[in-house]
Amino acid sequence: MRLYGTVAVAGFLTAAAPSRIVGGSRSLDDMASAKTQDPGNDAGFNTRAIHAGQEPDQQTGAVVPAIYQVSTYKQDGVGGLRGGYEYSRSANPTRTALEECLAALEGGGRGFAFASGLAGQDTVIRALLKPGDHVVVPTDAYGGTYRLLNKVALPWGVEHTIARISDVEAVRAAIRPGQTKMVWVETPTNPLLGIADIAALAAVAHHAGAILAVDNTFATPYLQQPLALGADVVMHSTTKYCGGHSDVVGGAVVTAKTIAVAGFEDAQERIAFHQNSMGAIAGPFDAWLVLRGLKTLGVRMDRHCDNAEKVVEFLQGHRAVTAVHYPGLPGHPGHDVATKQMRRYGGMVSFQAGGGEQQAVDICGATEIWTLGESLGGVESLIEHPARMTHASVRGTELEVPADLVRLSTGIEDVGDLIDDLDRALTKTAG
Ligand SMILES: Cc1ncc(COP(=O)(O)O)c(C=O)c1O
Repeated sequence: MRLYGTVAVAGFLTAAAPSRIVGGSRSLDDMASAKTQDPGNDAGFNTRAIHAGQEPDQQTGAVVPAIYQVSTYKQDGVGGLRGGYEYSRSANPTRTALEECLAALEGGGRGFAFASGLAGQDTVIRALLKPGDHVVVPTDAYGGTYRLLNKVALPWGVEHTIARISDVEAVRAAIRPGQTKMVWVETPTNPLLGIADIAALAAVAHHAGAILAVDNTFATPYLQQPLALGADVVMHSTTKYCGGHSDVVGGAVVTAKTIAVAGFEDAQERIAFHQNSMGAIAGPFDAWLVLRGLKTLGVRMDRHCDNAEKVVEFLQGHRAVTAVHYPGLPGHPGHDVATKQMRRYGGMVSFQAGGGEQQAVDICGATEIWTLGESLGGVESLIEHPARMTHASVRGTELEVPADLVRLSTGIEDVGDLIDDLDRALTKTAG
């Protein structure tokens, strides 16, 4: 059975006004399978995650793809390639398995696995844009993405305008007719959990002759499928939820089955060419780890969401917390859009400390189960101070984040322990 090619600024809620998390329980599989015509596409998300690209080994029957830790392949006479493999920068069977699985989960035409999320993003920029082009980028995005656009792409000649990505009209206004070739979206955003309306922004971008590229790292294909909503390219830091165990750094790009925007019809071929030409590929063992992570993505995400919702309810009721940012809250400005386009609201939560920057920093150092560290999306809960850590590179720019902000990556531990740990840290650090 071949199962690939399938499918489909933050609210300031004070402690005095707790509100419950509602909505977001629709099946993305229903949404997505309605949009595809490929045979075998009616398999559910978890079935695809476990089987797509992962046929049992022909020779041994091994149910898990092998780690092909190899650089080159014997040819049966010059040019006589077995299965198309000649050199592992160009293609490697373990990476192929991961790339097919990624394409199946995002409902795309083709998946590409990279050495890191930023390597994938760099490939998207260099493969699909050229000097003189212009990109609209979000006010709230991963700091490394902005650094790439501002310090690498800009000197190369690709200009950008920063726009509030939750405001469709602001994005429309930021477009330079004829020059804007890409609208870049991260949703939910890192670290403020802002929400962008993917379908509306796809329409705006396409009308302007630009493509829509979506960083789906926070949501994962389990919670949100941008290609089914009109996006053209999806990107991931697979270091995060896709890998899921904080044991691998990786990236992914998935292209839509067809891209109708003039000049981008061959996006898939261009990304494939650049992936091979620039060579920032995922190695076999890293590809295998991400593939293993994907098998449990659905069950992990449900648990991440369950825990995050309980943590949010706790934080809302705490006197030392002035604002909680979570798209599942009805008061969050992006709540309705998130409910429309996401299955649930994810495991990332951020909040602002009543005691300002110093308390935010102190809280990060006071937890015991929540580990102080960068990254996110692993089974273990992480806590960090974005202004001094993940987003230090955007200090002084329009993307600067509040100094009193604490970001939580809610893991899958027992939620009572997580809440007790946070409670202790908040109480200990309150002035
Ligand atoms: C939303 C988002 N996109 C991309 C990246 C970059 O991914 P990587 O660190 O795997 O290069 C990150 C890293 O934190 C991220 O949070």
